[in-house]
Amino acid sequence: MPDTEWAPRVAAELCQRLRAEPSLRLCLPTGDTPSPMYARLAQMLEEGRASLADATVVLLDEYLGLAPDDPARCDARLRRELLDMVPVPPRAFSVRVDELAPAAAAAAHAQVAAAGLDLVLLGLGANGHVGLNEPGSTTTSPTRVVELAPASRSAAVSRYGSAVAPTAGITLGMDQLLAAGEIWLLVTGPAKARVLRRALLDPMSADCPASFLRGHARLRVIADTAAASELPPRPSAGRRLRK
Ligand code: PGA
Repeated sequence: MPDTEWAPRVAAELCQRLRAEPSLRLCLPTGDTPSPMYARLAQMLEEGRASLADATVVLLDEYLGLAPDDPARCDARLRRELLDMVPVPPRAFSVRVDELAPAAAAAAHAQVAAAGLDLVLLGLGANGHVGLNEPGSTTTSPTRVVELAPASRSAAVSRYGSAVAPTAGITLGMDQLLAAGEIWLLVTGPAKARVLRRALLDPMSADCPASFLRGHARLRVIADTAAASELPPRPSAGRRLRK
């Protein structure tokens, strides 16, 4: 779909989903991809088009070793871009990296997700990661402490403004993401065209963990025109892929 329509359309669809299912258990990512969508969603929620009041939000991933006020911190970013902007905030679970040792924080987050996720929104890393499931991750990779790929370390500094390059993080695992009721993979911009083609058209492989999402019965890939530019033409720009 055209780049300018992407954010309002995804936000509107999320509102529709929340109206149908107010107590939705939602897993949300941070990053540059969802930012404009969260801005529109916050506006729509302010206008009363839906509410997050009865929903539960589970954060997708978090860096280790960053101060709570570091601009790249995923929890702070989600609060800044969405949770603090809505009239009635949802029950929200961040990754408890400041209170618990890393392995315990990962175990606690796994437990939160184990209560079930109705809808998981994901961005797509240029190296094929989803969450912080870096290349090498498989369909059974659990929620865990992970070492970050070099591209993810440098992105935290160069794109998200982190004061120091994080070397590790905690991510919901591929196993828990694939167990969700539905997945929306959000992809925008020309820099994601090549990796989106790999994720959707190359053989499923740990080299590109996002490719495993094709094994999910209810995967929606929501790409803008630029990100979809290396895919073969399809009748509709909003893509709904099933395995
Ligand atoms: P981005 O990151 O949305 O900032 O491009 C996506 C990701 O790396 O998962």
